[in-house]
Amino acid sequence: MKKLMIAPSVLSADFAHLHEQIELAEEGGADWIHLDVMDGHFVPNISFGPGIIRTIRKITTLPLDTHLMISDPDRYLEQFREAGSDTITVHYEACPHLHRTLARIRELGARAGVAINPATPVSVLTPIITEIDLLLIMSVNPGFGGQSFIPFSLDKLREASALIARQKPGVHLEVDGGVDTRTAGPVAAAGANVLVAGHAVFGSPSVPEAIRTLRKQAAG
Ligand code: DX5
Ligand code: ZN
Repeated sequence: MKKLMIAPSVLSADFAHLHEQIELAEEGGADWIHLDVMDGHFVPNISFGPGIIRTIRKITTLPLDTHLMISDPDRYLEQFREAGSDTITVHYEACPHLHRTLARIRELGARAGVAINPATPVSVLTPIITEIDLLLIMSVNPGFGGQSFIPFSLDKLREASALIARQKPGVHLEVDGGVDTRTAGPVAAAGANVLVAGHAVFGSPSVPEAIRTLRKQAAG
């Protein structure tokens, strides 16, 4: 059994008090900090880039889990690694030469992740699974925090979990989008071991309590 990890997404944090918000996440036992990078092209929203990640790197020693929702991520991999990302996840849909992209991420010394959108089947990752360290199942269409969990994501998690068990058991299975007290249990039962949560953590009156509750729900 892999360790169950909670990765709060700072997309929903109060950026005027970023330092405090991250300290509260640490206090609640966050395992990773999830960083949603959006370019207004691959997804219909713009968030932040390597500059903010560099700042966050100074605030926390927790692993930084960078989720690149950007077109042509190859152009920026080095910058995101230098900014302090420990994991760099690219989208399958944004990478025509995924094998090369993953090799580059690992060459830079980061864990290499691949995310797939709700409409992308898990099976596209079968040939490449041995080259990845983290598989991210998007359970909403990427672009915004606070959206509702898409129920068929549970089937995709089960399928991804079986693929990982068969081919490369060390791969982390992450789920991102609409994870809250209601969905945390089901996604963990379906095999996810890294739960990203934005609104459910930073939209809650107590950030530490929200993280502890999610962990409890995920444990079933
Ligand atoms: C969606 C982002 C998510 C998002 C999750 O585009 O990749 O990480 O911030 O937010 P919640 O947990 O609010 O759905
Ligand atoms: Zn994300």
